[in-house]
Amino acid sequence: MENRERWNSRLGFIMAAVGAAAGLGNIWRFPYLLYKNGGGAFLIPYFIALLTAGIPLVILEYFAGQKTQSGAPRAMAKLTGKTWEWVGWFALVLVFLISTYYTVIIAWVVDHIAYSINLAWQPNAEVFFFEKFLNRIPPDQWHGQLGNIRIPILLGLVIAWLAIFFSIFKGPKLTGKIATVLMITPLIILVIMVIRGLTLPNAVEGLKFYLTPDFSKLKNPQVWLDAYGQIFFTLSLAMGTLIAYASYNPPDNEINNNAVITALGNSSISFLGGFAVFSILGFLAFTLGKPVSEVVRSGIGLAFVSYPTAISKLPGAPIWGVLFFFMLLNLATTSAFSQIEGIVAGVKDKWKISRTLALVLISLASFLIAIIYTTQGGFYWLDIIDHYISAFGLTLVGLMEAILIGYIYGTSKIREEVNAVSEIKIGIWWDISVKIITPIVLIVILVMSVIELFQHGYGGYPANTIKIGGVVYLGGLLLAIVLSILKGNKEE
Ligand code: ALA
Repeated sequence: MENRERWNSRLGFIMAAVGAAAGLGNIWRFPYLLYKNGGGAFLIPYFIALLTAGIPLVILEYFAGQKTQSGAPRAMAKLTGKTWEWVGWFALVLVFLISTYYTVIIAWVVDHIAYSINLAWQPNAEVFFFEKFLNRIPPDQWHGQLGNIRIPILLGLVIAWLAIFFSIFKGPKLTGKIATVLMITPLIILVIMVIRGLTLPNAVEGLKFYLTPDFSKLKNPQVWLDAYGQIFFTLSLAMGTLIAYASYNPPDNEINNNAVITALGNSSISFLGGFAVFSILGFLAFTLGKPVSEVVRSGIGLAFVSYPTAISKLPGAPIWGVLFFFMLLNLATTSAFSQIEGIVAGVKDKWKISRTLALVLISLASFLIAIIYTTQGGFYWLDIIDHYISAFGLTLVGLMEAILIGYIYGTSKIREEVNAVSEIKIGIWWDISVKIITPIVLIVILVMSVIELFQHGYGGYPANTIKIGGVVYLGGLLLAIVLSILKGNKEE
C-alpha cells in the first residue's frame, strides 16, 4: 500500500474536521436562518436534519475515506465501481468552485480587520459595505458585467491565500497542529464575545428574538429544506473534504464517536455564534430605539453591516471589531484549507504528482478565478454561483453518495465494519437514514429547488441567472466526467 500521509494525532484530526465544518456558515448563515425560519422552532428541524442526515453521512464519509485510504474520486471508484468515480470528481469540482468565492469572503474579513481599527464603516455600515467597499454595480443595472477590480479586496485575497497555502503545504501532520491553534483561538474569542454580549443592556430582547419559537412555521416545507441545506453546508458534506481528511487516518481508526464529536462541536459553535450575534443586536436596537426586527439584516449583511454597526456603539469598539473579524478569519481559514486539501488528495490519488506541485496548481487556478469576485460585479456572481452549488450541487452529490455507497457496498456491511472500530455502536436506524430517509429528503429538496427556480428564477437580477448557473453546473459535471475518464499514472 502507498505510504499515505497521516495526521499528527486524533486531536489534530478532530480539530481539523471541526475546523472544516465551522466557518462562515456558523456565524452569519445559521443565526439568520434560525431567525427567518421561526426562531427557536427552527432548532427542531435543524436537529432532526442533524440526526437523520448529518451525523449518518459524516459516518459514511469517514468510513469511505478511511476504508479506501483515498480522496473522494478513488473512494467512490473503490466502493461502488469505476463507473461512479465521476461523482467523487464532481464533489471536488464543486468544492473547487466554492473555494473560489469562499476565499473572497475571507478577503472581505481580512479587510474588515483593518477597517475595525478606525471604524471605517461609520457612520453608515450599509452604505460603506455596498457602495464604498464593494463599490458594486447597482442591482437593477447588473447584466453580468464585471467592472473594475477592487484593489483592497484583491490584496485581502492575496493575504487569505498565503494563510491557506502555508497552513497545508507541509501536509496533514502540520495542518492538524495549525487547525488546533486556529480553532482554539476563535472559541476563546467567541466565549468572550458571548459574555460581553449578554452583559449589555437589552441583550435579552435580542435573545428573545433569536430563540422564541414560532411553531406555525414548521408547517412550511421551506423551513425543512433550509434546515437540511444548512446541515449539508455547515458540516462540509458532499464536498470531498471529510473523505480526504478521514483518508489520512489509519484504516482501523475510531469513526462513530469522532463523527458525533465533529457534528456536535460544529453545532455548538453555531449556537454560541447565535448568542454572540443576537445579544449585541438587542443592544443595538436599544441604542437606536428600534425593535430588534428592524436592525437584523439577512445573509451577508449580518456579518458585514449589522454587526459592525452594533460594535461601533460599544466602549472600546475597535478592539471588538478586530476580535470579531479575527474570529471569523480563523474559522473561515480552516474551512477554506479543508476545501483545497480535499482536491489535493483526489489529484494525488490518481496522478504521480508532488504535494507541492498539486497544491500550487490548484491554488493558482482558484486564485485566478477568484479575481472575478473581487470586481464591482463580483458580488452578484458570488451570490449566484453559491446558490446553484448549494441548492443543486451538494444535494446531488450527497444523494448519490448515500444511494451508491448505501446500496452497492451495503449499509449493513459498513455498519459492521464501523462498529468494529468504534467506541459507540450504531444501530439499524443508521441504515434507514442512509438508504431511505436521506435519499427521500434530498430528492424532495432537489425537486422543490428546481420547481422554485423555474417558477421564480433566482435573485431577481436583470441578468439570466438560470443560464449562468446552468452553464457552470453542466460545465462542472462535464469536467468531472472527463477527469474520471482520464487515465491516471498511479498503479493500484
Ligand atoms: N462548512 C463550512 C462553513 O460552514 C463551509 O462555512
